[in-house]
Amino acid sequence: RALAVPGGLWREIRVLPETGSTNADAVRAARDGAPEGLVIVAESQTAGRGRLDRAWVAPPRSGLTFSMLLRPAGVPVARWGWLPLLAGVGSCAAVSRLAELEIGLKWPNDLFVHDRKLGGILAERVDDAIVLGIGLNVTLRIDELPVPTATSLALAGSACTDRDPLLRAMLREIAEWYGRWRAAGGDPEASGLRAAYRDRCVTLGRRVRVELPAGRVVEGDAVDIDPAGHLVVRTAAGEERVGAGDVVHVR
Ligand code: BTN
Repeated sequence: RALAVPGGLWREIRVLPETGSTNADAVRAARDGAPEGLVIVAESQTAGRGRLDRAWVAPPRSGLTFSMLLRPAGVPVARWGWLPLLAGVGSCAAVSRLAELEIGLKWPNDLFVHDRKLGGILAERVDDAIVLGIGLNVTLRIDELPVPTATSLALAGSACTDRDPLLRAMLREIAEWYGRWRAAGGDPEASGLRAAYRDRCVTLGRRVRVELPAGRVVEGDAVDIDPAGHLVVRTAAGEERVGAGDVVHVR
């Protein structure tokens, strides 16, 4: 199936009826030297990957599952951590507009609506390339949700549940942010990315429990997103900066 490419960055959109994981496919393409701007979309995935070694499960054609291959040459790798957040900001803006819903970002890059998870983003680095994979729940019914804390656009009352326009809008917004960020050498301040992320972030101001990858738990108030894109948590012992982890909004 052919899909119109929304100009500029995206040079090829491959649509697959079924695959294991579009992220795995894009990682393979990156290793094989595919240029920046490849997008792989799947109608269904049999081995979808999530963050923190989890699976991403969705019934066929119930959502949007796609991966983008980028090669941010010229941007210091230390700033690449902003890329999944950038994809979150672009997706949020695009989906909010079409859905006529206020979609937020739970740190670091879960798409959230009505305090439930609507979608997620998985970034995987391959040398000088990065693959950004997005999973968005579109038409899932309540009995199809992978976990009770999830939701879908249909369940949230979205004005749009057509996958092609959603995908095109997301790609367009992500390309715009990527262009801005890259032109600013990856600077989250000069590109306006940090400000846009903070505006969309629904974790700020909440009480959180963060399970760090090493297993330690940090509990406190989420007060800021620092220039590295890390979550600043005010705890009884002082401030902690969290770079990765599983966040639960306690209240
Ligand atoms: C998460 O919230 O844990 C991230 C989920 C990312 C899922 C998407 S679906 C398209 C792409 N291919 C994958 O295997 N994973 C990502």
